[in-house]
Amino acid sequence: MAAGIPIEVTGLSKRFGPVTAVDDLSFTVQPGRVTGFLGPNGAGKTTTLRVLLGLVRASSGTATFGGTRYRDLARPLETVGAALDANFHPGRSAKQHLAVYATAAGIPKSRVPAVLTMVGLSEFAGRRVGGFSLGMRQRLSLAYTLLGDPGVLVLDEPINGLDPEGIRWIRGFLQSLAKEGRTVLVSSHLLSEVQQSVDDVVIISRGRLVRSGPLSTLQIGAAPRTVVESPDPHRLAAALDQAGLEYTEEGAGFIVEEPDPGRVGHAAFVGGVELSALHQVAAGLEDSFLSLVGDGGSEGTPGLEPVRVGGGEVR
Ligand SMILES: Nc1ncnc2c1ncn2[C@@H]1O[C@H](COP(=O)(O)OP(=O)(O)O)[C@@H](O)[C@H]1O
Ligand SMILES: [Mg+2]
Repeated sequence: MAAGIPIEVTGLSKRFGPVTAVDDLSFTVQPGRVTGFLGPNGAGKTTTLRVLLGLVRASSGTATFGGTRYRDLARPLETVGAALDANFHPGRSAKQHLAVYATAAGIPKSRVPAVLTMVGLSEFAGRRVGGFSLGMRQRLSLAYTLLGDPGVLVLDEPINGLDPEGIRWIRGFLQSLAKEGRTVLVSSHLLSEVQQSVDDVVIISRGRLVRSGPLSTLQIGAAPRTVVESPDPHRLAAALDQAGLEYTEEGAGFIVEEPDPGRVGHAAFVGGVELSALHQVAAGLEDSFLSLVGDGGSEGTPGLEPVRVGGGEVR
């Protein structure tokens, strides 16, 4: 296996005529970790990856593998495994498809059955790709990226189209690739899709960096809340109203938009309400993600300022 090397994106911008798809984007991706490249549809993920892989030219800025552009890599397939715009000849079998690329890159043919086994497609090796499901095509793309046993993997929405079993499988698989020391960059428009398998996140919205760093730091942005329960929920609701606290009903109790349980407890005390539970809860991860990227569809997100590198960025 080739050594994992960092991916470095610096001041990257890409304009398509009037559309700015990527806007002064900077981030790094470390070896030995799975990094989720996240953002709503249209955020600029695929464009960033296409620039990184030399498929389109940057308007400005750079995207490199440890300082080397993709097109300057001596042995690209053995350095970076990437599956973008996967185009399969429908008449070819999975095995034939991979053999074509192996031959072109001077990779021993013995690698073909090896990678098909790794992605769980060995029993379909001789089957024509035209009859493959979306999930099987995703696995075949992954097999292709592994042909050269590269230290870096760049995967665009690899979980899209997988069935639940496939999703469980790919999560563990990506983690095992990172544990071997590889750099693993995986894009997704859904945090929930990757949150169980990523160590780090790079979040973009409208082509700009919103946040990057370990997944565990994501919750910092959204305020914790207080969970409160009473044997007499009606009186509790009245006490919360009386104190001017915002809340929503949740199961047997209420979630109060107040980080300090002491203030909620005091409101109950003032109202003479018995409590059966009172504690703080962290904001949900998906809530944090959505509050960071906005809804992604509308123009402008009030109150959302992109966090710039060198500014308040987490890492
Ligand atoms: N070849 C292109 N020509 C014009 N606009 C493009 C092209 N590719 C992408 N875009 C635009 O750039 C923006 C980002 O797209 P994309 O990188 O595909 O986002 P994502 O992968 O995050 O969904 C979108 O507004 C999209 O319409
Ligand atoms: Mg995309």
